Amino acid sequence: MSVQVVAVTGAAAGIGRATVELFAERGARVVAVDVDKAGLDELAGDGIATLAGDVSTEETNAALVDLALDRFGRLDAVVLNAGVSGAGPLESPGAIERFDRILAVNVRGAVLGVRAALPALRASGGGSVVVTSSISGLGGDPVTWAYNASKAALVNLVRGLAIDYAVENIRINAIAPGGTVTALTAGVLAHPTLGPAVTERIPQRRWAQPREQAEVVWFLTSPAASYVTGVTIPVDGGLSANNGILLPPAYPGDSPR
Ligand SMILES: NC(=O)c1ccc[n+]([C@@H]2O[C@H](COP(=O)([O-])OP(=O)(O)OC[C@H]3O[C@@H](n4cnc5c(N)ncnc54)[C@H](O)[C@@H]3O)[C@@H](O)[C@H]2O)c1
Repeated sequence: MSVQVVAVTGAAAGIGRATVELFAERGARVVAVDVDKAGLDELAGDGIATLAGDVSTEETNAALVDLALDRFGRLDAVVLNAGVSGAGPLESPGAIERFDRILAVNVRGAVLGVRAALPALRASGGGSVVVTSSISGLGGDPVTWAYNASKAALVNLVRGLAIDYAVENIRINAIAPGGTVTALTAGVLAHPTLGPAVTERIPQRRWAQPREQAEVVWFLTSPAASYVTGVTIPVDGGLSANNGILLPPAYPGDSPR
């Protein structure tokens, strides 16, 4: 049976919002968590309960589980998607404070989220965790060292935790989105040179829509993925399959194909 009750963090915008909408459309009850209360208010609907809170705190993660159980009576899946970036150069003033914050939201938030959800998932007879890593967790990007470190940590976090909870039928996986059209990446996409430079390295030569990420989250939480745990699935239009050699322009007449 598909997920009945799911909690999604970073739910007010972008990939999280698309995930809330997709699960709700398919009949799941959703607990939507974000620091952005105004954004959450736009999501309110019959089967959607919202919680304003910071995922780097134990309080928010405990409240997320309590809300799922109080409102919907169970919890089958958690999508730990909230994330931030932007440390700036390593030697810039304040870089270490920003690094600490990125690690707190992206890594500590995921660790706390899994920890808080485990008893409720166990009580449902098993369940599924999906963490949002990134292609920035699979390789490095310019001036992105802190975010790179945080997203790489998630790749190995899901491996380690998947091993610990597999026998309890709790599957723990990640997606690694490539460039996806959200507020987080609006600056890169709109940049006159950087935007096209990124796009031309993507074999599919376009960025993802948030819903294309949500579909893979749906798959990972579904019975179709019942034997999948401890993996990170790139959802990146082939970007991470590229060995780093710039793609030739798409000129069909002169193509090697
Ligand atoms: N957009 C991309 O290209 C891309 C690529 C790879 C990975 N990701 C990852 O996908 C996830 C979602 O990003 P997005 O692109 O949808 O960004 P977004 O900025 O549109 O949405 C992120 C949401 O997380 C919320 N959030 C931030 N800090 C929070 C906290 N401490 N507690 C609770 N909520 C918090 C924000 O308020 C926002 O609503 C992030 O983990 C991001 O790192 C995005």
